[in-house]
Amino acid sequence: MLKKLRVGILGATGTVGQRFVQLLAEHPWFEVTALAASERSTGRTYREAVRWKLESPIPEDIGKMSVLEPKPNLDCQIIFSALDSSVAGPIEEEFARAGYAVFSNAKNHRMDEDVPILIPEVNPEHLKLIELQRAQRRWKGFIVTNGNCSTITLCMALAPLERDFGIERVLATTMQAVSGAGYPGVPSLDILGNLIPNIDGEEEKIERETKKIFGALCDKKIEPHPMTVSATTTRVAVLDGHSESVSVKLRRAASLSEIKESFRGYSSLPQELKLPTAPVHPIVLREEADRPQPRLDAHAEKGMATVVGRVRNCSVLDYKFVVLGHNTLRGAAGAAVLDAELLVAQGFWK
Ligand SMILES: NC(=O)c1ccc[n+]([C@@H]2O[C@H](COP(=O)([O-])OP(=O)(O)OC[C@H]3O[C@@H](n4cnc5c(N)ncnc54)[C@H](OP(=O)(O)O)[C@@H]3O)[C@@H](O)[C@H]2O)c1
Repeated sequence: MLKKLRVGILGATGTVGQRFVQLLAEHPWFEVTALAASERSTGRTYREAVRWKLESPIPEDIGKMSVLEPKPNLDCQIIFSALDSSVAGPIEEEFARAGYAVFSNAKNHRMDEDVPILIPEVNPEHLKLIELQRAQRRWKGFIVTNGNCSTITLCMALAPLERDFGIERVLATTMQAVSGAGYPGVPSLDILGNLIPNIDGEEEKIERETKKIFGALCDKKIEPHPMTVSATTTRVAVLDGHSESVSVKLRRAASLSEIKESFRGYSSLPQELKLPTAPVHPIVLREEADRPQPRLDAHAEKGMATVVGRVRNCSVLDYKFVVLGHNTLRGAAGAAVLDAELLVAQGFWK
């Protein structure tokens, strides 16, 4: 690609926004040309406005950029949205109406019938909804969403099993990191030395979004997958990386070694296309009894791999395992960047 595509980040100062800045600063196809956030930040340089929480320094050039209002007059073609869901819905629509390609992390549009929840490894064919969305809404641009961070991790682990054996039922219990709640997020006095056995709205998101992601595109809409999904969501005192304990009932009988082989051998379209942000191994299978662990494994393949371990028989369903995904990388900013890369590779901006 000769000329980089110009991208803007909405909610650039937040937890996910900072990950976008980190990932896009050195991106081979994209160049950050606009940053936007709330009134608190507008008019300040990014360095002044952001409460930077990442290990790497603020990229020099981006630190000097001004933070703008999230209005559809930004100098860019592509929008990565990390806006708080209290405001994301209408703002993202305005951008799409005005012709921008919007890749959103917010929950607001995920369940709209004409909006895909894209995981490039799992359901690239759902991108056909873009055409319908533009025609129905008379938009020049469009919205593509990411799943909820725990949904993405779960779906990545289910993808090889669905492809090789089919899935009938899923039980998932999450142990979610504090960075999943944004900044400043959960008060330290609530979470330190503790586990909170509920995250509002999260269980329904996992249950509905998973069925949509694995759903079949037919007659211009997505027919949800018939699998039954039951989720329990909890918050734990982990910084980054959502873990999930998962049990599955399969459609076709399989041996434990076939299940492990299915995880190990999984590869899909982003790997075939060698997209810049795609992990070489989308699933990393750990055989040790004490892995995956957030501190040791959340950054596998630059935080884009889904790490599976403790694969074993389940006496209630068929098999159970533990899965871990980095919530702000594979579960948010990295996922949206991969979505946009897929569209580039499919010739969308030629
Ligand atoms: N954290 C995760 O792991 C994760 C994973 C998947 C999806 N998500 C989703 O991603 C989005 C961002 O989450 P986050 O964790 O990054 O939240 P966050 O740290 O609270 O950041 C929120 C961002 O939204 C901006 N914002 C808030 N109110 C605004 C307004 N009225 N107008 C314009 N901008 C406004 C903030 O700007 P200021 O700094 O100027 O206030 C900030 O940049 C949410 O929709 C969340 O559900 C998060």
